Amino acid sequence: MIELENVAYSYGGGELFSEISLKLAPGSFHFLTGPSGAGKTTFLKLCYGALQPTDGQLRLFGADLRDMSRDDVALCRRRIGVVHQDCQFLDHLPVAENVALPLTVSGQDRPEELANLTDLMSWVGLTERANALPPELSGGERQRVALARALIMSPEVILADEPTGNVDWEMSQRLMRLLIELNRMGKTVVIATHDLGLIRATKAHVQSRVLRISNRRMQLAGADL
Ligand SMILES: Nc1ncnc2c1ncn2[C@@H]1O[C@H](COP(=O)(O)OP(=O)(O)O)[C@@H](O)[C@H]1O
Ligand SMILES: [Mg+2]
Repeated sequence: MIELENVAYSYGGGELFSEISLKLAPGSFHFLTGPSGAGKTTFLKLCYGALQPTDGQLRLFGADLRDMSRDDVALCRRRIGVVHQDCQFLDHLPVAENVALPLTVSGQDRPEELANLTDLMSWVGLTERANALPPELSGGERQRVALARALIMSPEVILADEPTGNVDWEMSQRLMRLLIELNRMGKTVVIATHDLGLIRATKAHVQSRVLRISNRRMQLAGADL
């Protein structure tokens, strides 16, 4: 689905990372870890075509990113749901409208698609908060709104950037259970987190691989995590 071959990225200073070769297969579950500043967010941006590798090849759903037009990239992006690290919402719009925004923006807010919204709000446990405004939400609620918004277009791939930032342990576990459930439904999942404790606690419940960025390289972490 997403394939990298010898990928490097640099923002202009030194190289952030290089020689990354990796396939994110359909239905796979990956954790992405590494210290703050290692390049986790940058790596995810490459995976959804927001950045072009400065070297190497990146294929999204079989097509080389370099050969893709803006429209091609936009079509690919619809197949990828992103939970951003700083989940930003439109504060004057109720939660349900924020979740539905990708539908509204793409003109797909017909009743049958909006039925999906009701299911999704219930699945993330936010039915009762549908009419709340984003500033009224707790950290855990915000993260679940961000997850629901990433899922509203029924993407095949979910990229979650620190989805458990600013939430307590119990809520982290709950969010992880949702992501595992999505993977069981066949979605490809990548979770960037610097929280090794959370990875250890989650790993037991899902067949997964742990990718670690350190010293400008990406390695597969072993059992000694
Ligand atoms: N737009 C940008 N321009 C220049 N440098 C950036 C930009 N975004 C991130 N960086 C730098 O790249 C490094 C990796 O950032 P990031 O991918 O956000 O790491 P992580 O998510 O692992 O904390 C950091 O040193 C950061 O300051
Ligand atoms: Mg980050």
